[in-house]
Order: sequence, then structure tokens, then C-alpha cells
Amino acid sequence: MDDADQERQKQSVGRYAARYVEDGMRVGLGTGSTVRWTILALAERGLHLMCVATSVETQKLALENGLEVLTPGEVGSLDIAIDGADEVDPAFNLIKGGGGALAREKIVASMTDHFVVVVDESKSCPHLGAFPLPVEVLEFGADIVATRLRDLGADDVIRRPVVSDNGNPILDAGFGRIDDPAALTSELEAIPGIVEHGIFPGSMVRRVVAARGDDVVELSRSQET
Ligand code: 5RP
Repeated sequence: MDDADQERQKQSVGRYAARYVEDGMRVGLGTGSTVRWTILALAERGLHLMCVATSVETQKLALENGLEVLTPGEVGSLDIAIDGADEVDPAFNLIKGGGGALAREKIVASMTDHFVVVVDESKSCPHLGAFPLPVEVLEFGADIVATRLRDLGADDVIRRPVVSDNGNPILDAGFGRIDDPAALTSELEAIPGIVEHGIFPGSMVRRVVAARGDDVVELSRSQET
């Protein structure tokens, strides 16, 4: 798939997912080049929505297009949240955070029982891990966390040159194939200094809207990973 095909797929799935949003809803807006199309489609429909943005970039896009943006505390919970992903496995476990917004994205996803993921065809995979796992850390512990990630099996841990919207460093940890995302999640959550990591459990995800060639399909979840 070339870049133009991929961009077409992002546009199709992003726009498709706007259909789940109705007037008056409280909506979580994800970050990235796929959900960008959802945000534009929502703005075009002229709905009155109360939105929570997962990044400064998304907040700017939403405001520029006439959407109202509130804080998580102001809305309390969300009717729906829509976001992209870097990898999706058959059980709907995700790796997210390629755009560095993982911490806010996970908070927003946790505020709803209708979390919709929009992905082009390249994001579906039998096992997570080919995409390096983003891990947001406190500056004070960044080197120690990097060592712990290597102890857990990451053969490459690279610090991004820019910090997150929260002002924290992000490490990209190359674990390779992750056979048990839940087990790795528990291990990561036991490391002091990690603010958030990019494994989102399948239990958070209600729907995955994916491109397949020129079509858009809603994937069925399989418990096998
Ligand atoms: C940002 C994310 C994005 O959702 C993820 O990187 C996918 O982005 P794109 O839709 O541009 O491929 O997690 O932190």
C-alpha cells in the first residue's frame, strides 16, 4: 500500500466513525492522522457536542473547526471516544502513542464504555510488538525506567527528542512480539516512574473500524491473540 492509498483509507475509516456520534453527546477526540478525519466530519455535521481533546494538536483542530472543548473534569464521563491506534491485535488489544498522546488518550478512553478505534489496513496484526511501545516517564527516573524496560526484554529503548504535552519524556521500547499483553502490562505498571504506557487492553475497546482495500469494515473480536 502506498502513502496515497493509506491516506485514502484513513480518511474513509475516520469519516465512517463519525456516524456513531449524535447531537448533544459528550465525545472524546483522539489524536493522529486518522481520527483527524472523524473530527472534521463531526464539525461538518454542525452537531452541538461537548468534546474532550487528547492532545494540544487535537484541541487546536477541534476549536478551529467550531467544536466545543472541555476538560475531563468538566464533562465527568463520555458517551463515546474515537481514536486511532498503531497496532490492533485480534482481541482488540492496542499499541497507541505513536503521536505521543498516550497518557491523555488512555484517560479519555477510560471515561467511556463506547471506545471506537479507527485504523487503516496496516495497523491490524496477529501479535502486538512490531511497533515500538511508547512509554511516558518522569524525567527524574527516565534512565532507571529505560534499564527496567531492557530487563523486561526490550532490546532497544530510544528516548524521543521531544517531550509529551504533559512535559514528560517518552521512551520507545522495542519488545518485538508481545505474547501476553496483559502480563507485560502488569510488569510495566509495577515500575515506579512510568506515567503511562501504550498498551491499551482489548477490554477497553467496544469497536474497531478498519479499512480493507476500498471498504470499511467493523472487525469482530477474537479472544485468541
Ligand atoms: C497518538 C496515537 C495515534 O492514535 C496513533 O499513533 C495512530 O496515528 P495515525 O492515525 O496518525 O496513524 O496513538 O498518540
